[in-house]
Amino acid sequence: MVKQSLCILLTSVIVALSNGQTCITQTTTITPAQVNTIYSSLDQTITDGPGDTDGDVAAAIVRLAFHDAAGFNRNTADTLGVDGCVDMTKGGNAGLQDTLDLLDTTWQPFCSIISKADFWVLAAKVAVEKTSQVQNYNLPILFGRASASSCLVPEANRLPSAEDSLAGEMNRVMVGQMGLTEAESIALLGAHTLGRTETINSGYEGPWVQNTGVFDNDYFREIAQVPWTRDFDQATAKTTWLRGARMRRQGGMGMGGGGGGGPRPEIMLNVDMSLVYDRANFIGGTNRVVCGPAVNQNGLVNNPACGVDSGRFQVVQGFLGQNGNTNFHTAFAAAFKSMTEVGQTALFAAADPDTTTVVPDTTASPIMSPTASPTMSPTASPTMSPTASPTMSPTASPTMSPTTVASDTTTVDPDTTNVDPHTTTAEPETDQPTTTRPARPTRPARPTQPPRGGKGGRPRGPRRN
Ligand code: HEM
Repeated sequence: MVKQSLCILLTSVIVALSNGQTCITQTTTITPAQVNTIYSSLDQTITDGPGDTDGDVAAAIVRLAFHDAAGFNRNTADTLGVDGCVDMTKGGNAGLQDTLDLLDTTWQPFCSIISKADFWVLAAKVAVEKTSQVQNYNLPILFGRASASSCLVPEANRLPSAEDSLAGEMNRVMVGQMGLTEAESIALLGAHTLGRTETINSGYEGPWVQNTGVFDNDYFREIAQVPWTRDFDQATAKTTWLRGARMRRQGGMGMGGGGGGGPRPEIMLNVDMSLVYDRANFIGGTNRVVCGPAVNQNGLVNNPACGVDSGRFQVVQGFLGQNGNTNFHTAFAAAFKSMTEVGQTALFAAADPDTTTVVPDTTASPIMSPTASPTMSPTASPTMSPTASPTMSPTASPTMSPTTVASDTTTVDPDTTNVDPHTTTAEPETDQPTTTRPARPTRPARPTQPPRGGKGGRPRGPRRN
């Protein structure tokens, strides 16, 4: 009886302690073992239950990490940046509330060890590593970020607009404000291989690639190797690039590469297309335009009006071909480190307290092997340089022309081979009322998943732990 009472007393003391713990606002020290424990918890949260393969939790966390970092503007006096805060009064953050709540819950048991700002970075690292499906893939990160108490960002437009402009939102925000290189920015945009856009959040609808839960180079292959049709919706003033060369005027989108099953739901945004094509030639236009490689003898070619941005295309080319995925993973890891360190001056690696030597790459995940490939090392490889390295794009030519896009693309979607050549020319949008556009297919159902409540109206899984 006494033993039982003691047991109950002890249990309630532990509960009281864990409930009453003080959450820190800045990590001061953290050990590799603690990082591993938190990593495992995040892994469970992100994996989101058996049968979850669409990567929706992982995608939302990676987007959140970017938006946190994009609060940083090196041209202003404020200290916003990676601080565990996003301004939810800003439309650009729409859809992130459920992710904030999920991460808050996951953070609570560890909040006396790690700041929320560091926790979000670690969460994004886990999300990318796990969805990469590459066992030793490692995004090196450091710790010591301070969490902010107020999340308000002064300007209305610190986040990028997907509609872009002649100045280029990627360059305005990621290069101009955050101080990243253009090559780093391009690699980071490869995160669009995860997840999707949703009308309720951004006004756009659709994923970028078919396998939305795998962090690989599909996004770059799709942009460069498939034709895309610009679809400007006059009602919303939103531009969406639809997969394939489409003929909406004839009552459907059936030429979109759907493999006989109708159009596919993948889309690109202006910013995505500008990684290969010359944005100056198509941003702001409302005509229907097809941009893409030549695909058939009927004359479907990349519309010369799209042009090719040789500098950006050279970086993208490094992410195509035989070593494309490895190159992308390597470049993304370095760019992610830059992104999560913008504005930070006193970060440190996880280390054991009794060691004077810092443990190299202490952010190593439980899956990290000590024999990890040197290409994943925290020290930037030559391929990480702002100027594309020859090893990343052995065939790249700085004077790339639209026709060389065609010659470079050997795996063009076969469903686009019977496209009417008329689709290669710009046609007035007024001939194709946006109201006639049929609804796109909804995302495939996940058969083994229980009902969920989640991000921006789309199913979201409960935590398993
Ligand atoms: C100029 C730069 C960028 C623009 C204009 C942009 C725009 C967008 C838009 C419009 C969405 C759809 C949001 C929604 O409807 O829910 C989105 C989603 C997403 N973005 Fe970006 N983005 C940019 C850069 C980045 C970067 C650098 C990253 C990561 C490092 C990133 C990661 C993601 C992810 C993973 C999603 C999917 C989210 C989900 O499925 O929940 N984006 N982005």
